[in-house]
Amino acid sequence: MFDFKGKVVLVTGGGAGIGRATAELFGELGARVAVLEIAQDRCEAVRSLLVEAGVDALVQRGDAADAGDVDALMSAIDARFGRLDVLVNNVGDFLGMAAPFAETTPAGWNALYQVNLHHVFLVTHATLPLLRRTGAGSSIINVSTIEAFRGIPNAAVYSAFKSAITGFTRSLALELAPEGIRVNAIAPETTETEQVPISRWIPEEYRDLVPRFIPLGRYGEPRDAAGSAVFLASELAAWITGTTINLDGGALAAGGWRQTRDGRWTNRPVIEANAHRSPPTAVPGPELLPPGL
Ligand SMILES: NC(=O)c1ccc[n+]([C@@H]2O[C@H](COP(=O)([O-])OP(=O)(O)OC[C@H]3O[C@@H](n4cnc5c(N)ncnc54)[C@H](O)[C@@H]3O)[C@@H](O)[C@H]2O)c1
Repeated sequence: MFDFKGKVVLVTGGGAGIGRATAELFGELGARVAVLEIAQDRCEAVRSLLVEAGVDALVQRGDAADAGDVDALMSAIDARFGRLDVLVNNVGDFLGMAAPFAETTPAGWNALYQVNLHHVFLVTHATLPLLRRTGAGSSIINVSTIEAFRGIPNAAVYSAFKSAITGFTRSLALELAPEGIRVNAIAPETTETEQVPISRWIPEEYRDLVPRFIPLGRYGEPRDAAGSAVFLASELAAWITGTTINLDGGALAAGGWRQTRDGRWTNRPVIEANAHRSPPTAVPGPELLPPGL
């Protein structure tokens, strides 16, 4: 059921992080893989990786938000493989922009639009003739973020475009359903990648607190997202369209709930002065709920 032999999968931004893991996993499962990647060095690295793994791979340097590059890619896929079964619209970037909305500019909004939404329209539009040629059983997987389902302070515009991806996913799914072409999305929580090297962003003395924030005890690995994309593209997901898988270790389910240092759930302020390597100053008691509540 996870056998993609004979199938062709396109992953945009497949040179790093979630995209690279997705390209690798589809390749491991027998797919022929096309990658569009803007960074030349990453093109070369992912090409070697896929070829060494025995994957029939087409890695093309180009910008997913550039119509000329996307058209050239479609011609290359058609010439090389003659078909397309799965499109993974993976490109996306917060561009290091973390600022109050009042301080953002139209130029910044447009840059975020190009890298988070425009290319989804452009690449999807360009692949439709190939996907339609394959017909029923082909599918599109868009990469959103868990932040499409909760707020992110200082990233209002990024989160707006990522939320738009889930709306696009639902509506396009309806349009293509009569042809048997499915459209779904995945929404990852913080995942260790080149763009988000979370392990380097958290000082060592705070790392033991990660399980207090993510119920399943860790941040995501690119392979977690790749697994969800593979599932959505597989026959096992044959009746799933228009939906988004939250891929978040339980973070969204937890909402405002957190665990205290000693593992008790709370939705109340817990104040720990000098939280690490010294005894917590918050006294467990009426401030904290009993375990299990
Ligand atoms: N890493 C996370 O914590 C996280 C969380 C939620 C959602 N996401 C989403 O997952 C997707 C992948 O994120 P990541 O962290 O793996 O990113 P990443 O930056 O590590 O990898 C993305 C790759 O895409 C390439 N790329 C960027 N712009 C491109 C363009 N215009 N055309 C072609 N290639 C381009 C980059 O060079 C890079 O190799 C994005 O859509 C991102 O928004 C990531």
